[in-house]
Amino acid sequence: MGWIWCVWVFVCSGFYALALHPEVYLNMEQRVKRHGYPLEIHPVTTEDGYILNMYRIPHGLKKSENEPTNKSAILLVHSSGGSPANFVTLGKKYSAAYYFADRGFDVWLFCSRGTECQNPRKHIKWDWNNDPEYWNWSFHEVGLYDLPASIDHILNVTQQKKIFHVGYSSGGPQLYALISEKPEYNEKIKLNVNYAAAVLLKEVDYPFLQVLCQLSNLFKNLYGAMGVTELTPPVFYSVLSDLVRKMCADPKWFRLCKVALSSFGSNLSTLMEDDIVELATSVFPRLSVKQATHYMDNVNRGDFRKYDYGKQTNLAVYGRAVPPRYNLTATTVPNAFFYGATDSLSVPEDNQELIGILSNVIYEEELGPSFVHLDFIFAKNASHMLYKPTVKLFKDFDAGRIPPKIVKRSKQ
Ligand SMILES: *[C@@H]1O[C@H](CO)[C@@H](O)[C@H](O)[C@H]1NC(C)=O
Ligand SMILES: *[C@@H]1O[C@H](CO)[C@@H](O)[C@H](O)[C@H]1NC(C)=O
Ligand SMILES: *[C@@H]1O[C@H](CO)[C@@H](O)[C@H](O)[C@H]1NC(C)=O
Ligand SMILES: *[C@@H]1O[C@H](CO)[C@@H](O)[C@H](O)[C@H]1NC(C)=O
Ligand SMILES: *[C@@H]1O[C@H](CO)[C@@H](O)[C@H](O)[C@H]1NC(C)=O
Ligand SMILES: *[C@@H]1O[C@H](CO)[C@@H](O)[C@H](O)[C@H]1NC(C)=O
Repeated sequence: MGWIWCVWVFVCSGFYALALHPEVYLNMEQRVKRHGYPLEIHPVTTEDGYILNMYRIPHGLKKSENEPTNKSAILLVHSSGGSPANFVTLGKKYSAAYYFADRGFDVWLFCSRGTECQNPRKHIKWDWNNDPEYWNWSFHEVGLYDLPASIDHILNVTQQKKIFHVGYSSGGPQLYALISEKPEYNEKIKLNVNYAAAVLLKEVDYPFLQVLCQLSNLFKNLYGAMGVTELTPPVFYSVLSDLVRKMCADPKWFRLCKVALSSFGSNLSTLMEDDIVELATSVFPRLSVKQATHYMDNVNRGDFRKYDYGKQTNLAVYGRAVPPRYNLTATTVPNAFFYGATDSLSVPEDNQELIGILSNVIYEEELGPSFVHLDFIFAKNASHMLYKPTVKLFKDFDAGRIPPKIVKRSKQ
């Protein structure tokens, strides 16, 4: 038993030497307030009963005397397992949400079902903590229900006809699932900007993940047999998230956290500052089993298809044994692509293949050479490498200067 005691003392000694980032335990409202920006909370109910909380940063740090009433709205969409807080993690100076708000945009932050946004997760009928039905969804449902409810709410509040959509990682597949099923949403978006889109996942360059994805059916069967729909069941979640949060805030451990975090993108990120690690790991990802296995199946197939229920159920649901592809040719909205030269999740080849399929890509930029998946939200350089050219695109659009197709590749 001696070794258990040793481990325990070792771990605890770490916990008592905490040097917490001042924002680790702050919620979104407290963080934004601390940074000096305004924040509104907008509850939105989806067609299938989920009650989401969208955030809005209606203006920048300094509110001008005569704030224009027709500011362009931007919807910033977080990734699966991420949260709207990802867009303010870089603090006052470098965060995407503030960068856009300070440059005259009306910034809205999407909050998908299952994500903790201020108020506990809600559904008109189901309890997220007790009802397995609550977690019975994938990026398909997020795209089909959460996204249109959020977009329509913005259009209603701002009385505008179209918004800018910025999707990070799974923001891509969600939007294309929506457009495939409800093409009328092409008309509600001025421009869609993809940050490291996780749509086609053919070339995912991450051996561990590829092996893991082979186990998709095993996951489905195991979780199905237990009747569990959330990837990290609530019993484990609070323990695990607390452990990760404390460990990563500890100087002794946080290097390990940084390695773990950045290896998720591929090569160690050289662009992520150390203090971001604590904040980035302060919200442990929360995923549904259906969402995770949907991605896994698409990685296995190297294709962008609807959820695979297994042959029998597929026949009943889709009228065919193999789930159908999403209809990418239904996309008419203009698209811009930013991807990292060394991102092993959203790899350049997959982005380029998708760009070849879509009919209306006006801008493509490869960031590099060391820009990886998490750098889109956690690298201090993102503000000048990524948010700056994004704002230029938005301003050009609003001024009617729709650029001819531009392709930029990483220089070094
Ligand atoms: C807002 O209205 C002003 C005055 O009509 C116009 O010049 C400007 O381009 C509009 N801005 C946007 C973002 O539509
Ligand atoms: C999840 O939804 C599918 C249909 O979309 C249904 O067949 C299945 O029974 C549901 N499972 C749970 C646990 O609610
Ligand atoms: C639009 O906003 C008005 C006023 O806030 C509200 O009464 C109405 O229900 C909203 N409509 C939709 C479709 O959300
Ligand atoms: C995909 O969308 C396009 C444009 O709306 C349509 O012409 C085409 O028939 C669709 N394809 C499928 C397979 O539904
Ligand atoms: C990682 O970085 C090394 C050197 O910087 C490079 O040669 C290699 O291609 C990179 N790997 C990936 C997966 O991008
Ligand atoms: C990151 O930003 C710093 C300072 O703004 C700059 O010196 C450096 O070259 C940038 N790195 C990359 C890879 O762009």
